[in-house]
Amino acid sequence: MFDIHAPDHMQVWVAQTDEIRARGGIGWSDANDGYWVVVGYEDAVAAAKNWQVFSARHDPTGGDPRARGISIPPYEFPLILSESDPPRQQKLRLLEIPFFQPSKIRDQIAVVQGHVDACIDTMAGREEVDLFRDYAMPLVSLTSMALVGIDTAHWQDYTLAAHRGGPSSSLDISQDTERVHAMLLDMARERRASPQGDITSALVTGEVMGEKLRDDEVVSMLSALVLGGFDTTSSLITSALIWLSDNRERHADLASDDALATSAVHEFLRMWPPSLGGARNVVEDTVLGGQAMKDGDRVFLSWAAANRDPDMFPDPHRVMLDRPNAKDSLTFGMGVHRCLGMDLARLMARLSIQTLLRRHPQFCVIREKCVPYRSKGLVAGWSAVPASLG
Ligand code: HEM
Repeated sequence: MFDIHAPDHMQVWVAQTDEIRARGGIGWSDANDGYWVVVGYEDAVAAAKNWQVFSARHDPTGGDPRARGISIPPYEFPLILSESDPPRQQKLRLLEIPFFQPSKIRDQIAVVQGHVDACIDTMAGREEVDLFRDYAMPLVSLTSMALVGIDTAHWQDYTLAAHRGGPSSSLDISQDTERVHAMLLDMARERRASPQGDITSALVTGEVMGEKLRDDEVVSMLSALVLGGFDTTSSLITSALIWLSDNRERHADLASDDALATSAVHEFLRMWPPSLGGARNVVEDTVLGGQAMKDGDRVFLSWAAANRDPDMFPDPHRVMLDRPNAKDSLTFGMGVHRCLGMDLARLMARLSIQTLLRRHPQFCVIREKCVPYRSKGLVAGWSAVPASLG
């Protein structure tokens, strides 16, 4: 049975979702009180765009028992932005959008390249490095923290919260998450007293539907930015480097050709989406992909399976670095909740891959020592990627 929390989920999801596709495209899982499983590209897009029927809202008080957010089972604390619907969601999003405009991302190129170079420098001369702990994790942490205005001298406090104990993720460790939240709360209070030009200041000074955000709402928004980008972006980078270590033919092209490297990053995102999918809550009787669904049902939109839909991506299980439509993958979701950090994540991935290929063309991942995250349903990735730099 399809179950995003089954211990072997990472090994079986491709075969299971291909089977659901062969039987018509919408499956059913009895796990976690039952949910529909959407694997077709068109169906996933249709549901993700139709927030009026497939709601992301989360009401943890149980006042509306249908409003269970985007996680199966529901998160203990709702994510203020990701687990609300328009119009409120759009107003919340507006506070952050200015920091993710293309011009702002362009400004980040030099910053990210600086972090990439600094991380590579720390690995120089070592016989064995860990491309997760020594490279992907610090550079992603430093970039996301600088973005929200956290003093990057504290980066290890935040990152350890996201990755403590090896094959773990922010989803597992409420104690450390609480510590990070306390730090974010302090920062929010400081910015209320003296605003600066960063996202935190925009959140504490901005208004949503005529009201200022409460402290806990600001912390939820900041936490989604800081912790939400860690596992995902570092997992993208490490999955790509593992594949590149085994497939060396186009290293020189990738290192020198930004357009090819950009296209390759789209394809890596399509093949190994760090967020495998997200849930929605059906709030009126409807039909999706020929399947009748009832008010109160839950659905799991499998971004990962939609990315392997052969009607959209021919020969879907093969990596094609210049696949023309790889950028249309659903790895960053779709519709009103589409990832705000996607351009930044792609930039971090491209620069880290190209720089490693340029500075250490002989790098070689020690495959048998790599440690995948324990299966945890929503985030796929690596918590150890030992390698020699050659
Ligand atoms: C490879 C890296 C990343 C992946 C795969 C990813 C994936 C996603 C996905 C799938 C969603 C939509 C969830 C849904 O519809 O239920 C999302 C939302 C979001 N992501 Fe990302 N993300 C990544 C990196 C980042 C980064 C680096 C940031 C910020 C620095 C970020 C910020 C956000 C925010 C704020 C939302 C909520 C948007 C909304 O609900 O309006 N993400 N992300």
